[in-house]
Amino acid sequence: MSDIEIAAAVLRSVHVAALASLFGTLLFMAVALPVGSGTAQVRRSMRRLVLISGLAGLIAGLAWLTVQSAAIAGADSVAMALHVVPTVALRTQFGHWMLLRLFLLVVALFLMRRPGVAIQIALAGVALAVQPLLGHAGAIGGAAGAQLIASEALHLLAAGAWLGGLLPLFLAVGCLSHEMAAATCRGFTPIGLASVLLLAGTAVMQIATLMGGLPGLFGTGYGHVALLKLGLFVVLLSLAVLNRLVLTDRLAATASTRPHMRVSIAAEMVLGALVVVAAAFLASRTPGTHEQPVWPFAWRLDLGVFSDTASWAEPTIALGATAIGLAIAVAGVIWHRIRWPALGMFAAIEIVAIPHLDVLFVAAYPTSFFTSPTEFAATAIAHGARLFAADCAVCHGVEARGDGPAARSLPLPPADLTANHFRAHNDGELYWFISHGFTAPDGETAMAGFSGVLSSEAIWHLIDYLRAHNAGIAMRRTGSWPQPLPMPQFDAQCSGGRIIDLDDLRGRAALIVAVSGDEQVEPRSFDNIGAAVVVVARGIAATPTGATCIASEPQVWTALAIVLGVSLDALAGTQVLVDQDGWMRAAWRPGDAEDWTDPNTLAARLRDIQSHPIAVNMTGAQVHHH
Ligand code: HEC
Repeated sequence: MSDIEIAAAVLRSVHVAALASLFGTLLFMAVALPVGSGTAQVRRSMRRLVLISGLAGLIAGLAWLTVQSAAIAGADSVAMALHVVPTVALRTQFGHWMLLRLFLLVVALFLMRRPGVAIQIALAGVALAVQPLLGHAGAIGGAAGAQLIASEALHLLAAGAWLGGLLPLFLAVGCLSHEMAAATCRGFTPIGLASVLLLAGTAVMQIATLMGGLPGLFGTGYGHVALLKLGLFVVLLSLAVLNRLVLTDRLAATASTRPHMRVSIAAEMVLGALVVVAAAFLASRTPGTHEQPVWPFAWRLDLGVFSDTASWAEPTIALGATAIGLAIAVAGVIWHRIRWPALGMFAAIEIVAIPHLDVLFVAAYPTSFFTSPTEFAATAIAHGARLFAADCAVCHGVEARGDGPAARSLPLPPADLTANHFRAHNDGELYWFISHGFTAPDGETAMAGFSGVLSSEAIWHLIDYLRAHNAGIAMRRTGSWPQPLPMPQFDAQCSGGRIIDLDDLRGRAALIVAVSGDEQVEPRSFDNIGAAVVVVARGIAATPTGATCIASEPQVWTALAIVLGVSLDALAGTQVLVDQDGWMRAAWRPGDAEDWTDPNTLAARLRDIQSHPIAVNMTGAQVHHH
C-alpha cells in the first residue's frame, strides 16, 4: 500500500467510526437508556457526544474525500488534490454517495436543536448504510452486487449499533447509580444480541462472495486481514458475554463492580476500534477473488461422498452422532445436575464418531484452489500439446498412456493420463503435480517438478492439453465425451469486419464446422438453423458471410482434433454443436448414422440440446481419495 492509500484507509476508519458512534449513540439513547430523573446528566453528555461524533464524521469525511480524490487522480501535491476534489465529487459514483452522506450528516446535526430522535436515527442510519456503495460492492452491479450491498449495509448498521453504543454505555455506567447502570446494561442487550447475529450472518455472505470462500479467507492477504478482523470480533464478543452474564448481575448488587465494568467496556471499545481499522484496510485492498489462494492445510473438505450412494451413509451417521453429542454437552452445561454424566457421554460419542468423518477430507496442496487463467483457449491447448511432446512424452508416452521409452527405468510407473482417474483431479491439484512432481516411497525422484523449468503459464497450457487429450481419447473409444467439456476459447472474424470470441456467443448455440481444402462442403446456407456458425478452415482462405464467422487462429483446428481424438487430417468435415452456455454437446463426422447435412435433423438435434442445458461445475473438484 502506498502512503496515500494508507492515509485514505486511516481517514476512512475515523470517518466510519464517527458515523457509527453517531448512529450507535442515538440508538442507545432511544432504546437502552432508562427514562427517569437520575438520567438528566448522562443525557446531556450523550447529546454532546452526538454533536462531537457528527462533526468528526463531517470533518473526517471531507478529508477522506480529498485524499481519495488525490489517490484516484494520482495527485502529488495538496493544491492539485484540492483541485480534483470537485471533479471526483461530481463525476464519480464514490463522489455522489459521499456528497449525499455529508448532506445527511449536516441535516442530522441541524436537528440537534430539537429532539427528533427517530428521524435523526434514520438519517444517521442511512448515512452509515451507504458505505458499501463507496467500495467494491458498489462496483459489482447486477443482482449479485445488490445482494452484497444489502448485506454490507446491514453489516455496518449492526456494527454501528453495537460498537457505537459502547461509549454511551461507558458514560452511563460511570455516572448512573449502580442499579440504574445495571438496568442500562440489560437494556443494551437486545441491541448487542441482534447486532452480533446480523454481523455473523452478513460476514458469512461476504466471505462467500467477495472473498472466494474458505480458500480466499485462508489463502490470500485479503483473507488474512479478514481473519484478523474475525479474531478481534471473537475476543470482543467474549468480553461482551462476560459483561452481560457476570459483571451486570454483580453491578446490580454492588457499586464496587463499577470500575471492573468500565475497564471491560473500555477494552471492548479499543477492540471495536481495531475491528473498524481492520475493516477499512480490508475495504481498500483488492478482494481475494482476484488473487490465487494459497491453501495452507494438507487436506480440504470434500462433500463428494454425499453424492455417491455407496459412501454417503458413513459420514451422515457420523455427522448425526457428532451433533447429538454436542447437544448432550450443551444440556450438561445448562443443567448442573446432569453435567458430568452428560460430558462423559459427549466425549464417548465424539471419540467414536469423529474418526468416521475423515472421508469428508481429501489431500490438498497449496495450489489446490488455483484456477486456470487460460479459459481453455485453443491456443493454450495447442501450445500444451507441443510442450507435452517435448517434456513429458519420454515417460508418459506420445499418447500419454504411461508407456514412454523411459517408463521402465523409473521407480514408479508413469501415470496413464488418458485414464478416467485423471479427471478426478481439479486444475489446482494438477498444477501442483506438474510443478512439484512425485517422489517414490523410497525417496527416489519419480517425476521431477517442472516449476523451475516451465513458466506458470506453460503449466496451465499443459493442463488444458491433458484435459482436452483425455476427453479426446474417451471420445475415440466410446463416441462421446465422458463429462461436459467447454468449447475451447477462440477468436473469429465475422461479416462486416466484426471480431468475436466464444464469450460473445453466450446465450446462443453455435455450430462449429471444420472445413479443409480437399473437403467438398455442400454450399448450403446455415443461416436458418438458429445457431451461430463458426467455420474452422485449414488450407483454404474462407471469408465470413451472413451469420457465418471464420475462426481466426490455426490452433483451433489442432485443439478440435485433440478434443475429438482424431488426427489433424481426419478432422475435415467434422461438426460440433456448442450449447448456449459454451459446452460442447455433440459431434458429427461424415459417415455417421445421424445425418447432420440434413437441416431438419440438425435443427432437431440443436433444439434437443438447447432445451436440456447442463448445470455442472466442470472445473470444480470432483471426488478423489488417495
Ligand atoms: C521422468 C519421468 C516423467 C516425466 C518427464 C514426466 N512425468 Fe509425469 N509422472 C511420472 C510418474 C512416474 C508419475 C506417477 C507418480 C505416482 O504414481 O505417484 C507421474 C504422474 C503425473 C501426473 C499425475 C497423474 C495422476 O492421475 O495422478 C501428472 C498430471 C503428470 N505426471 C504430468 C506430467 C507432465 C505434464 C509432464 C511434462 C511436463 C510430466 N508429467 C513429465 C513421470 C514423469
